[in-house]
Amino acid sequence: MRLVLLGAPGSGKGTQAARLETHLQVPHISTGDLLRAEVAAGSRLGLEAKEVMARGELVSDAILLGMLEDRFSRPDTAKGFILDGYPRNLAQADALDALMHRLGQPMDYAVQLEVPQELLVERIAGRAKAEGRADDAPEAVRTRLQVYDSQTAPVIEFYRQHGQLTVIDGVGSLDEVFNRIIEAIAPSNPVG
Ligand code: AP5
Repeated sequence: MRLVLLGAPGSGKGTQAARLETHLQVPHISTGDLLRAEVAAGSRLGLEAKEVMARGELVSDAILLGMLEDRFSRPDTAKGFILDGYPRNLAQADALDALMHRLGQPMDYAVQLEVPQELLVERIAGRAKAEGRADDAPEAVRTRLQVYDSQTAPVIEFYRQHGQLTVIDGVGSLDEVFNRIIEAIAPSNPVG
């Protein structure tokens, strides 16, 4: 199963991807987590990405594609993956499409988690208190939401036009949202 998880910051992509990883037995690939690991390691790439991420802007497409190609070269992606945080603009969507065709692995689903903006802000504020992620500060959150609207929202249309889009109501308990996703991608296999 090759699945792209789409949605605004705070929509629950990371939370649901972690559950899907266990359920579907394919790796969760989060470009945000890959970048945060580079920042934590103090690598050259991490140093380049750190300030951009803290402002809530997008890291360069070239860096992301290189990182992703590297990740897809690992054998654990042979049976599939859950991709979270990529693509984030139309150039990335085209690049991913080309990469998947080159690897002979077309995408099965693009799942969009839909959550109203006031709830996104509330969830991120909750996480800011609990975890103190650098880009969860109010100004960076505003930028991330604007970047999502202007650059990432068109990606949803990209997958709709490719007939791969499934829209899921992301409001509800973790189990409710998870079951909606499972129902949409593997209807014979709901959980709970
Ligand atoms: P990234 O890490 O991808 O962050 P994001 O998209 O802003 O998403 P979040 O992690 O904030 O939210 P989420 O949807 O995963 O929700 P979560 O499950 O955590 O990217 C960070 C940065 O890296 C970007 O801004 C950019 O700079 C850079 N970057 C990454 N990818 C890039 C790319 N492709 N190109 C360029 N730059 C890139 O949930 C949020 C909170 O809500 C949690 O506290 C959770 O517990 C809670 N929650 C989740 N679900 C529910 C629910 N159903 N009910 C109640 N609470 C819930």
